[in-house]
Amino acid sequence: MPTQTAIDIITIFPEYFAPLGLSLIGKAVQRGDIVVRVHDLRSWAYDAHRTVDDAPFGGGPGMVMKPEPWGAALDAVVGDLARATGNSGTEPAAAARAERAPRAAEDHASRAPVLIVPTPAGALFDQAMAAELARADHLVFACGRYEGIDARVTEHAQHRMAVREVSIGDYVLGGGEPAVLVMLEAICRLIPGVLGNASSVADDSFGAGSGPMHGLVEGPVYTRPRTWRGLEVPAVLLSGDHASIARWRRDQALGRTARNRPDLAAQLAHHDLDERDVAVLAQSGFAFTGDDVAH
Ligand code: 6GU
Repeated sequence: MPTQTAIDIITIFPEYFAPLGLSLIGKAVQRGDIVVRVHDLRSWAYDAHRTVDDAPFGGGPGMVMKPEPWGAALDAVVGDLARATGNSGTEPAAAARAERAPRAAEDHASRAPVLIVPTPAGALFDQAMAAELARADHLVFACGRYEGIDARVTEHAQHRMAVREVSIGDYVLGGGEPAVLVMLEAICRLIPGVLGNASSVADDSFGAGSGPMHGLVEGPVYTRPRTWRGLEVPAVLLSGDHASIARWRRDQALGRTARNRPDLAAQLAHHDLDERDVAVLAQSGFAFTGDDVAH
């Protein structure tokens, strides 16, 4: 049976996710490889003003998102699935439903939802996390605004599903919505079948782990015309000499990594580097000791 990745997004700004109808993700949704459901948190608010925030206990600036709407939203979005897979079980109704709809044991693990809470206080999102999340069957994103969500929401959710607090970088956004778009852009292209050309994933910067470009950012690329505004495409790319092209591309990737990402270049000490690699890095201002070089 073909698998379909389910993505639920809970937010007070559903309109923010209109771009998910475009491009690669939009096409994957149309094909049915992915299903995206965007939910308005306020539909689980319970007062006339549909309030979702309140002042922080202990004082301090800003507002905190109230736990009750979030609890109700998560019950609605993952409740059925968590119950059907025997993951939940705190509510009597849930237990009764689980008994009526037992599932195979393997089903439990593979269909378990992962709750992702975007927050600048989270673990840093990277390509490895994107690849891991791309293997999940059900991703639930809980977009906080204001100063964050009452901490008991994740505390409670942890008993029913995997919970990941995730940041996309060391800066503060007004809310998790743009971070979720960023994460989905990275995750969805790694879901099998979503990207037409699987090998373009392996060549990515930070790519798949074992290729020749692992640990390097990508070098420059060129297309027609061969001359543009007096600038030539590097001759080696027109040579048809595949070994020379591969070596040139590695040189370019090494140089760009040394210049733009000295943090990544420093980690290359632990990878296999040949003498030419070391020379190229040195040219770009990066020096390794002999101990770092593989022989
Ligand atoms: Cl995931 N959320 C918010 N609000 N700010 C961030 C972030 C997430 N990642 C970096 N800054």
